[in-house]
Amino acid sequence: MALVHVCEVLDGNLEDKNVAIRGWVYRKREGKGVVFLVVRDSTGVIQCTVKNSSPDWEKARLLTIESSLSLKGVVKRDKRAPGGFEISVERISIIGLAEVFPISKDQSEQFLRDVRHLWLRSRRMNLIMKIRSDILEFIREFFAGKNFVEVSPPMFISAAVEGGSTLFGLKYFDQNLYLTQSSQLYLEILIYSLEKVYCIAPSFRAEKSRTIRHLTEYWHIEGEWPFSDMNDLMAFQEELVSQICLRTAEKCGRQLEELGVNISKLTSVETPFPRITYTEALQKLQPLGTKLNWGDDLGYEDEKSLAEIFGQPFFVYDYPAAIKAFYCKNYRDRPEIAMSVDMLVPRIGEISTGGAREDDKEILVDRIRKMGLDEKDYDWYVDLRRYGTVPHVGFGIGLERLITWILDLENIIDSIPFPRTTRRFHP
Ligand code: 4AD
Ligand code: MG
Repeated sequence: MALVHVCEVLDGNLEDKNVAIRGWVYRKREGKGVVFLVVRDSTGVIQCTVKNSSPDWEKARLLTIESSLSLKGVVKRDKRAPGGFEISVERISIIGLAEVFPISKDQSEQFLRDVRHLWLRSRRMNLIMKIRSDILEFIREFFAGKNFVEVSPPMFISAAVEGGSTLFGLKYFDQNLYLTQSSQLYLEILIYSLEKVYCIAPSFRAEKSRTIRHLTEYWHIEGEWPFSDMNDLMAFQEELVSQICLRTAEKCGRQLEELGVNISKLTSVETPFPRITYTEALQKLQPLGTKLNWGDDLGYEDEKSLAEIFGQPFFVYDYPAAIKAFYCKNYRDRPEIAMSVDMLVPRIGEISTGGAREDDKEILVDRIRKMGLDEKDYDWYVDLRRYGTVPHVGFGIGLERLITWILDLENIIDSIPFPRTTRRFHP
């Protein structure tokens, strides 16, 4: 008798074979002389029927939702069973009999988030987490294919990357440190040794915003490389994102269908992505009644309105320098414009920010001073411009925003197993 996973039974090659599976009771219904169990394991759910002639009939009746068990039986083709196959059960062995499971049908989002540790067992969360894992694999595959080196930057840092207002402080023995907002500055160090580098690491934002796209802890995909410009940067990102879309559609088709995801959205992403400047973005927003003036940052609503026009990922670039971070490079002949680019997608708006980094020591130091930052905090960063400076670019994509868009999730919260937001940090 073979111990198999549910997906192997559903694949259809085990008809009339004796099998054993292990898992948990997902649903249970009692009919006349028969107990219908839906059993789940990590790979799927399968209907299992136990007849009153079975020696383990009493055990089947005793089983509660989420009890763990192993069972043996014969695989039968059955049109009425979800997935087309069921197991006609001969023996059951109960591993852990569950108490009354608190999650039943039609529970509020709020409640499901409170019992996240249990809700993660749901088929929906199982599928999302698996696709998340696949997407991470596609990302690594892509970077490796371009000969990037994966590096591991620190999470404890001593100075802000993205501005003080979203910085989490913490006590580090008798010092004050912060949780990193982005690994960019460390990637910039590493390009001088490894040239093309990337990381997939947590970033932290003390962000009070309660929106469908904000977490306080998220996973950041960041790449950085030398001898390149804004065009290279946009081309790289559109290839990465379109590749992720195609690979996801290709490899996760069945799961996407089960989640009700619009797969054509993924297969119809066209490259090159549309590219508009910040100024052009404002012009497009004007007839839609925006209150923005040149120099204001785009808000979530503006980004969503723009994204509706394009209906797929696109770039907005050449932002006002004044709203960008100290490390952004400006055009030498137009110092008021930063070489900075965001990728936006429908419904979510911004999913990435990147740009060219200031590579001139004097200009960088001047910017640090003018922005009221402490030069001492960035001594090593300035050093990079002292010893063999090079033009270089990089970007950061929020993994959860990307997943939220790909999977049509209503809220970013469901793209990560244990979301951290202003109000959620338990479990
Ligand atoms: O736009 P941000 O702040 O840019 C940076 O951190 C750059 N240093 C990245 C780089 O060039 N290496 O953040 C980059 C991306 C955003 O576009 C968004 O997708 C995601 O990180 N992000 C968040 N995701 C979830 N919750 C939040 N609070 C986020 N803040 C940023
Ligand atoms: Mg940004």
